Amino acid sequence: MPKSVRLKSFELVARDIADVDVESLHALTVAVGWPHRPKDWDWLRKLGRGYAVVDGIGRVFGSAMWFPYGEDFATIGLVITTPRAQAQGNGRWLMEQVFEQCRGRDLGLNSTRASHNLYVSLGFRNEATVCMYQGLVADSLPNLPALKGELIEPPAETLEELIELDTQAFGSRREELIKALEPISTIRALNRGGRIVGYSMCREFGRGHVIGPVVASNDEDALHLTAIHLEDLKGQFARVDTRETGPVADFLQTCDLRVAERVTTMSKGRVLLNRISGQPWIYGLAGHALG
Ligand SMILES: CC(C)(COP(=O)(O)OP(=O)(O)OC[C@H]1O[C@@H](n2cnc3c(N)ncnc32)[C@H](O)[C@@H]1OP(=O)(O)O)[C@@H](O)C(=O)NCCC(=O)NCCS
Repeated sequence: MPKSVRLKSFELVARDIADVDVESLHALTVAVGWPHRPKDWDWLRKLGRGYAVVDGIGRVFGSAMWFPYGEDFATIGLVITTPRAQAQGNGRWLMEQVFEQCRGRDLGLNSTRASHNLYVSLGFRNEATVCMYQGLVADSLPNLPALKGELIEPPAETLEELIELDTQAFGSRREELIKALEPISTIRALNRGGRIVGYSMCREFGRGHVIGPVVASNDEDALHLTAIHLEDLKGQFARVDTRETGPVADFLQTCDLRVAERVTTMSKGRVLLNRISGQPWIYGLAGHALG
């Protein structure tokens, strides 16, 4: 696999994303209108692996990252070509570099409209639409059905239980992700009959806060696990990424969050989304790049 590519007059090389100046990566996301702050990039870089494409004097023209979950699965994200270098083959080349590193793994990603043709041509299949709800949270939230159980701040020693629940919901063990989210997130868990049956996290990201992952076994639990964070964010900017179209979507709209973007969950290899009624499910995404 070639390690350099010529784009018109640019000779670009792939460099380990960990070795690139974070301000240059920040400039890349700003250029495509994404909200990542330098500290978001730093956190993502510690968690995942990937490439930045740079020219001879170190200017960054693109990026692509992947996040391994266990031995046989990974999500791909942060695939960007800076606008002035787009449509010249860089995105495809970056994906080939990532494929080389991810060989043997099933893959999942959330595709923007701009990247959809590229991913289809690389063998990814559509699974579902993700809506990004965001905005300033309403000053009063709608009433919810009675809570069955108790919402708690889970003690540190229950992290393993949350990871187990997340694995059932996601289908791959995201242990490193959950452990990386734990110190930067407010976490709530739903305890019912002495057992944790759902959890949710909320952290600072981009323009405000993102609520996710949200893992629950039914809509009502998911509503409570989302609302507990929104209560603390009244009047502030919040974001929730969800594939739900029913009560959870209605609730978010009543909280004044609106759909700002739609992306498509796609997979290559095993099917990613296998919902079983009454079993733990991903109601809110950790992030587009993280699944
Ligand atoms: C998506 C993105 C990374 C593609 O990067 P790129 O360097 O322009 O991609 P390439 O030049 O390798 O093109 C790959 C394919 O994309 C499609 N494509 C690229 N530019 C296109 C354009 N202007 N119009 C239509 N299709 C286009 C084509 O299908 C192309 O296939 P081809 O190789 O058969 O021509 C880039 O547009 C981008 O950064 N967009 C904003 C951020 C984003 O949405 N990232 C995706 C995150 S999931």
